[in-house]
Amino acid sequence: MKQNEYPYRNPALPLEERVEDLLGRMTLEEKVDQLMQITIGADTNPNNAGDGHSFRPTIGSVLSYSGGAKNRNAFQRLAVEHTRLGIPIIWGYDVIHGWRTGFPIPLAQACSWDPSLIEAGCRVAARESYAAGIDWTFSPMLDVPHDPRWGRVMEGYGEDPLAAGIFGAAAVRGYQGDDPSQPGTIAACLKHFVGYAAIEAGHDYAYTDISSRALHEIYLPPFHAGVKAGAMTLMSAFNDITGTPAVVNHYTLTEVLRDRWGFKGFVVSDWDGVIQVENQGYTSDPAEMCRAALTAGNDMEMNSTSYRNIPQLVASGRLEMQVVDEAVRRVLRVKFAKGLFEHPYRDEVAPESVSLLPESLEIAREAARASMVLLKNESDTLPLKTTLRHIALIGPVATDPEASAGAWAAMVLPETVPTLRDVIGKYFPESEIHFAHGCDYEGDSEEGFAEAVAAAEKSEVVIMALGEGGNRSGENRSYTNIALPGRQAALLRRIAELGRPVVLLVSSGRPILYPELEPFANAILHIWECGHGAAAGCCDILTGAYNPSGRLAITFPRSVGQIPIYYNRHHRARPDSHSWNGTYFDLDDSPMYPFGYGLSYTRFEYSQMSVSVPELTAQVTLRNAGERAGKETVFWFLSDPEAKLTQPIRRLIAFEQIELAPGEEQIVTLHFDRMRDLAYIDPTGRKVFEPGRFILSVGSEKAEFIVRAE
Ligand code: GLC
Repeated sequence: MKQNEYPYRNPALPLEERVEDLLGRMTLEEKVDQLMQITIGADTNPNNAGDGHSFRPTIGSVLSYSGGAKNRNAFQRLAVEHTRLGIPIIWGYDVIHGWRTGFPIPLAQACSWDPSLIEAGCRVAARESYAAGIDWTFSPMLDVPHDPRWGRVMEGYGEDPLAAGIFGAAAVRGYQGDDPSQPGTIAACLKHFVGYAAIEAGHDYAYTDISSRALHEIYLPPFHAGVKAGAMTLMSAFNDITGTPAVVNHYTLTEVLRDRWGFKGFVVSDWDGVIQVENQGYTSDPAEMCRAALTAGNDMEMNSTSYRNIPQLVASGRLEMQVVDEAVRRVLRVKFAKGLFEHPYRDEVAPESVSLLPESLEIAREAARASMVLLKNESDTLPLKTTLRHIALIGPVATDPEASAGAWAAMVLPETVPTLRDVIGKYFPESEIHFAHGCDYEGDSEEGFAEAVAAAEKSEVVIMALGEGGNRSGENRSYTNIALPGRQAALLRRIAELGRPVVLLVSSGRPILYPELEPFANAILHIWECGHGAAAGCCDILTGAYNPSGRLAITFPRSVGQIPIYYNRHHRARPDSHSWNGTYFDLDDSPMYPFGYGLSYTRFEYSQMSVSVPELTAQVTLRNAGERAGKETVFWFLSDPEAKLTQPIRRLIAFEQIELAPGEEQIVTLHFDRMRDLAYIDPTGRKVFEPGRFILSVGSEKAEFIVRAE
């Protein structure tokens, strides 16, 4: 029988039959190769610069290769047409927030509170990267951080588990579409499974001491949402989960992920994650690393090669063949489901024919302006009048495309990303723009201050564009100081002395400290790192063409000394009203800007909240009391003030976005559910409904109600 007559080659057969037929034909060596992933090129993350593994056509996967469709096809042809079984390679890449069209970093996207916009952006990224030869992205990242010293806060969807799960599911839908076997889609990868964000002291790669309760209440739920959305793969995390590194953690990788959640795809380790268990004090024996990881449920090894020990482990009886087969089965299942056997190659089209298309750039602009958060707007400084005659534009962000591209920018070419200086003239055609660099992101030089002062003195309004710089967040970017670096705050103070209205734009990949900045600006817009649409989206807000609707998905502290600080914390033994209440003596205990915070050019008012217990519905009247149309994100928070497992002060149970014209009002209704919304998750991961008193709060309103046992 020729290879193309084998049953696994027949797309008309049920997928599981094809998997079993192919698995049954494989040698042990062929199985081992399917469980290994190598890199044959460097990606945008310097940590991952390929160490030049020699390519072999029987390899299961290649990552971080950006050689394009033509070269991918050349390698793929060796695998499909020149090996015994012709198993296609699955090509992975970190397509985190766009491929060639850059989208806002995920933390910024979360501040849009618009899952449909997140899905749309991921769909563009899928189409562009698929055409370039990618089958699989290592995204969405669903870690739930409480510590902005950790540079990877930029990569997730903020501090709320419910929101991270909803946005992660939207990303999965965007990447995989309705049918992931179709061209133009890429397999999603939920990462980093699990608890990576709980790293001690903001150090990347650090130990995480995670209670069973925190594991099930905070860190697992977003992944469960992603699995339910149909994600085809997961990536195990670098961190040691309370003594058992994630990559060898049978409880999370098998008992939860497979036995409870029924996940059928495969798990890939993180870069060298399998062999790093030696540094974590687990084992120094590569064979034991391999055995433990595979047995726990980590199917594929990224970059390191401990899985080459499989044959000797099987021969010596230390590893059951069925464990190997189950891992290979999962990988083959994804390759068949992804359609790789039917579509192993790519049309060799010119990248520009599918990338940076006008409709993609428009989505990027919508995503950018929806992600930006208005933090201050004293005396309605914003929006600016387009009839202004002289505007100063000062600061390093004004001319830096990297500040918009951000970390993990995949194949975004900075020279294709418009900067504020490039576009602002178009939005203020009657204004003369007086530009000055002012100062660099880092360093002590104030040489540029005089030029900046001169530009400001000629102007009616000053726009300060300051920030972290695009490479200060991301992987392996932990900082003890999250204030703006260099002399940027000093520059702002110097400009503020001139008495002109100051509009401060801040670009960052993480929450930054505002106490040193806030007093010196009349208006503050946090513009994150928002990709190709950043400059246009920002100007849409500055001119009032778009009424800012972003709301923070992560808490901004006043000081690093407050960290960890997050909204859904637990009660202390004494209320703040108590004379001895444990709050800081040297600092206001509250965050600088809380979770959910963001201003609008209009004013939304909440009133007449009511809860109907029999129907389990809540209602509130929302009114646009201002002069402009606007979009409000309505957040519903639940408090459970008496529970045998004490609960957070409040937790988000639902949100929705309402657009209202000036003066318009609408009754917003929440249909809540006893088990979904009122029950809490216990340390074993079970949902427990405890009858009793609950409080629902929305906007300025709150209502207490009692729900009895059924
Ligand atoms: C990195 C990251 C992971 C990424 C992988 C491949 O170290 O931890 O998020 O997907 O390696 O680049």
